[in-house]
Amino acid sequence: MTAQLIDGKALSSQLRADIARRAQALKAQGKVPGLAVILVGDNPASQVYVRNKVRACEDVDIRSVLERHDATMTEAELLARIHALNTDPAIHGILVQLPLPPQIDSHKVIEAISPTKDVDGFHVASAGALMVGEPGFKACTPYGCMKMLESIGMRDLRGRHAVVIGRSNIVGKPMAMMLLAANATVTICHSGTKDLAAMTRQADIVVAAVGKRHVLTADMVKPGAVVIDVGMNRDDAGKLCGDVDFDGVKEVAGWITPVPGGVGPMTITMLLMNTLASCEGLA
Ligand code: GUN
Repeated sequence: MTAQLIDGKALSSQLRADIARRAQALKAQGKVPGLAVILVGDNPASQVYVRNKVRACEDVDIRSVLERHDATMTEAELLARIHALNTDPAIHGILVQLPLPPQIDSHKVIEAISPTKDVDGFHVASAGALMVGEPGFKACTPYGCMKMLESIGMRDLRGRHAVVIGRSNIVGKPMAMMLLAANATVTICHSGTKDLAAMTRQADIVVAAVGKRHVLTADMVKPGAVVIDVGMNRDDAGKLCGDVDFDGVKEVAGWITPVPGGVGPMTITMLLMNTLASCEGLA
């Protein structure tokens, strides 16, 4: 192995210790950061994600309120809950776990969340603020990826070429905007981009966020490049793996994030960070 690991678990622990310290400082002023987590229905993966988020809040003294609703909840009922939470002074962040049942329009729901409490960073106002360089909440997964780059000394990316594979609204697009804001030259690709390897071989930084195994293989990576793997897939044996062929790519890259223990823990950490910042009045 030639690549050095970017350990998301270790970086998360450091950041969470800082979050816990800041939460304590708020407590001394009589303020407690509060996060409302809304789960509609009983999607098993969503139940695990929500449980992990609530547990992470407990560890850093952020108060979380978990609301579980039946899969039959109507859109109007959910919108009414969001309106109530928008005006609740004890709540600084509102997270609606996706996906929602088919009778509910997710976009409408996200747009109902006050941008001042949009700790997922999914609201059009948050995406727009990122695009024009104004303050606003940053989507947690790409924000975590930027923190991982900072942790290896890559804060100003002037002169570096970053290639993002995947163009989802919650990872690929905001990732590209954050890299651009850090002065990188950015190319956004699709998993079906013609000659994807020709693009990625030019990259100093590759972010793979497609949700498919082996999107990035060793022959597609420039020696010494930084490779960030946002994927969460299962291999044939049922083991968790990313979008990157880790065993091959680690022999070529300069830095690489593992799966598990890479981007995954960072996503929740940045959710905690956004909730804290909301309570501090910084976002
Ligand atoms: N579903 C899958 N990922 C996410 C996420 O980051 N936030 C929310 N709210 N739902 C999700």
